Amino acid sequence: MIKDSNQINNIAVIGAGTMGIGIAQNFAQAGISVKLVDVLSEKLASSLDQIESNLRVFQEFHLIQEDPHDIVSRISPALFSEFGKILGKCDYVVETIPEILEEKKTILKNIEQINEDIIISSNTGSFQVTELAQGMKNPGRVIGVHYFNPAHIIPAVEIHAGEKTSPETLEITRNLMVRVGKIPVLVRKELPGFIINRLTGALEREIGFLLDEGVVTPEDLDAAIKASIGFRLACLGPMETEDMIGLDTSVRVSRRLFKVLNNATEPSPELVSRVNQGMLGVKSGKGWYDYTGKSMATVLDSQNKKLLRQLYLFNMLNKKSE
Ligand SMILES: NC(=O)c1ccc[n+]([C@@H]2O[C@H](COP(=O)([O-])OP(=O)(O)OC[C@H]3O[C@@H](n4cnc5c(N)ncnc54)[C@H](O)[C@@H]3O)[C@@H](O)[C@H]2O)c1
Repeated sequence: MIKDSNQINNIAVIGAGTMGIGIAQNFAQAGISVKLVDVLSEKLASSLDQIESNLRVFQEFHLIQEDPHDIVSRISPALFSEFGKILGKCDYVVETIPEILEEKKTILKNIEQINEDIIISSNTGSFQVTELAQGMKNPGRVIGVHYFNPAHIIPAVEIHAGEKTSPETLEITRNLMVRVGKIPVLVRKELPGFIINRLTGALEREIGFLLDEGVVTPEDLDAAIKASIGFRLACLGPMETEDMIGLDTSVRVSRRLFKVLNNATEPSPELVSRVNQGMLGVKSGKGWYDYTGKSMATVLDSQNKKLLRQLYLFNMLNKKSE
């Protein structure tokens, strides 16, 4: 097994979907060779163009110095049928196939049969590492690294270990994430939703209530969040904010508010109704907003540009405070 994250020069990313493409880009930007593997040749065919186009925007925002074409040349697409050959030459593997437990477990076992001691990182959004690694001969080399969409832009990743994940697997993975410019956050106990999905879940639950009760419109809610807690959270975390507000004030407000907050155990009726009408968001042309006449690529491109402006500032801010 690799002893040091600096020895990792070849990574296999299994699943060239929404997340896999961004993850492959991130490794390639850091100088690592990537094999991007998928069962569908059409996914592989479009992936390199997508990554090169992402990198051109990075270049526009002065987030990379290297030529996008040179970065892309480090990524080789490969069909899943070549998986066996590829894996023997890789130092680390990232699994990012759809969130179906049995499929993920099968992939993990396949990897184990081909390469006995490679570290396997799963980008699962909801499963725990202990359940993913169940039945494996060496569960010590399985770890969860939860990326955020878009994976090539959002700096943080949550690292979560299973009951049997070895300290070496954890250490190497954490160092690898630092090496590729991510901000790794360690989830110190196995629990559903890790850290960030629990927090966004709590926010979504209250948002559902406020919309269903007609307290605010979706447009006003977005404007309010972006100009208040959203504005502050990118540079001051909730704990720093609580120190700024005063912990005594926080206790008084929490005592009053917690009793009246929404405690639904199901998603909001309005959200469910929209889904039943096929209003799925950007991908179906309508969600909370109407995207009719705009391609998904155009909408995502414009959202990504806003995030990249923010990434540029975020990097500057973090450099200054070092
Ligand atoms: N989409 C998100 O916002 C997001 C965020 C964080 C984590 N995740 C997690 O990332 C993982 C992938 O999600 P996604 O949104 O990228 O899915 P996706 O459907 O966009 O992509 C999955 C890709 O895996 C490929 N695939 C399926 N079976 C395969 C196999 N056996 N071998 C190789 N490739 C295979 C599919 O063809 C597809 O291209 C899931 O576990 C999900 O929970 C997703």
